[in-house]
Amino acid sequence: MKYLNQLNNQYRSISALSAVLIPVLSLVFACSEAPKQDEKEVSCEAPLNPNGDSERALMMRKMTQLAEANAASLRNGGELEPYDGSFANLATTKGTMPVDEDFFKGMSAAYLSSLEALYAAEPSQRVQLHNNLVKSCQDCHAQTCRGPLKRIDKMILSEN
Ligand code: HEC
Repeated sequence: MKYLNQLNNQYRSISALSAVLIPVLSLVFACSEAPKQDEKEVSCEAPLNPNGDSERALMMRKMTQLAEANAASLRNGGELEPYDGSFANLATTKGTMPVDEDFFKGMSAAYLSSLEALYAAEPSQRVQLHNNLVKSCQDCHAQTCRGPLKRIDKMILSEN
């Protein structure tokens, strides 16, 4: 009888626990799924294209490497990494994310002109112009896919 009582108590605490846990867990799952419904929250790093990475995604990766390398170098008072000119056709690359291509073209031009300005600048101007470039990444990503923004935000340098 004592044993049965114990069992009964255990059962009750388990069902009390699941009464709390089940709603909490389903809330957690609901929240982690919610962003998928909002296109702007979609991470552009998801494998959206079953045929592989798009030309645009590959270029984005190289742009990311360059901006991260420059951020690291400028933080230590170093030089810019060489830029080989290969982002010049960003505006007309083929992507997998559905975006407004006119918007993408305009934002690409802003990015490319900030890239040119950075590479043409006096060394003393580079930190500020690097930040302008990173802001152009942020501006486009705020309107297209917010996934990489966390990583992009870390490329901003302090300007004092
Ligand atoms: C003109 C708009 C625009 C600009 C400017 C832009 N991005 Fe992107 N980015 C996109 C879009 C759209 C995608 C999704 C690519 C696709 O359709 O395949 C993307 C994809 C990415 C990805 C994911 C690539 C992958 O592995 O699939 C990263 C990381 C990224 N961008 C970082 C950056 C960084 C860093 C910059 C600035 C140096 C930048 N982006 C500038 C619009 C932009």
